[in-house]
Amino acid sequence: MIVVFLGPPGSGKGTQAARLSARLGISAISTGDLLRQAVARGTALGEKARVVMERGELVPDELVEGVLRERLTEADCRDGFLLDGYPRNVAQAEALDAILGSTGRGLDRVINILVSEKVAVARLAGRARSERRADDDPETVRERQRVYREKTSRLVEYYRSRGLIVDIPGEGTVDEVSSAIENALKLPGAA
Ligand code: AP5
Repeated sequence: MIVVFLGPPGSGKGTQAARLSARLGISAISTGDLLRQAVARGTALGEKARVVMERGELVPDELVEGVLRERLTEADCRDGFLLDGYPRNVAQAEALDAILGSTGRGLDRVINILVSEKVAVARLAGRARSERRADDDPETVRERQRVYREKTSRLVEYYRSRGLIVDIPGEGTVDEVSSAIENALKLPGAA
């Protein structure tokens, strides 16, 4: 199974991708995590990414695509994977189509997690207090939400026109959202 998680920053993509990964036994790949690892290692790519991420903007497509392509060659991705945070714009969606098409695969579903900006921002403010992610300060959070509205939200229609989107109400508890996703994917044992 190959599933993309879409939703604004703070919608719970990472949380839900991790839970579904555990449920299905397939890897969840977060391009944000891959980029933060590159930043922590101090690689040349990490240094380029750090500056952009600290502004809340999108890292250039070719850098992220390179990181993703490399990750997808790993053995754990052979039988499927979940994508959290990729694609972020139409060019990345087309790149993903090409990557999957080159191995005769395609997307099964796109989970679109729906939350208001107010709820998303409140969640990230809570995380800023407890986990201190570098891009969770209020100004950068506002910019990340703006970038989502301007660039990423148009992917909802891109994938809806292909019949791949499932809209999931995302303002319930983590368990409620997980159940809605499992139902939408018709997983065995889903309520
Ligand atoms: P990335 O790491 O992908 O961050 P994001 O999209 O901004 O999203 P978040 O991780 O903040 O939120 P989320 O929706 O995953 O929610 P989460 O589960 O964490 O990207 C960071 C940066 O990297 C980007 O700004 C960009 O610069 C760069 N980047 C990454 N991918 C890129 C790409 N493809 N192209 C270009 N640049 C890229 O939850 C958030 C909080 O809410 C947590 O505290 C969680 O515990 C809590 N929470 C979750 N669900 C619930 C719930 N149901 N109820 C209450 N609290 C909840």
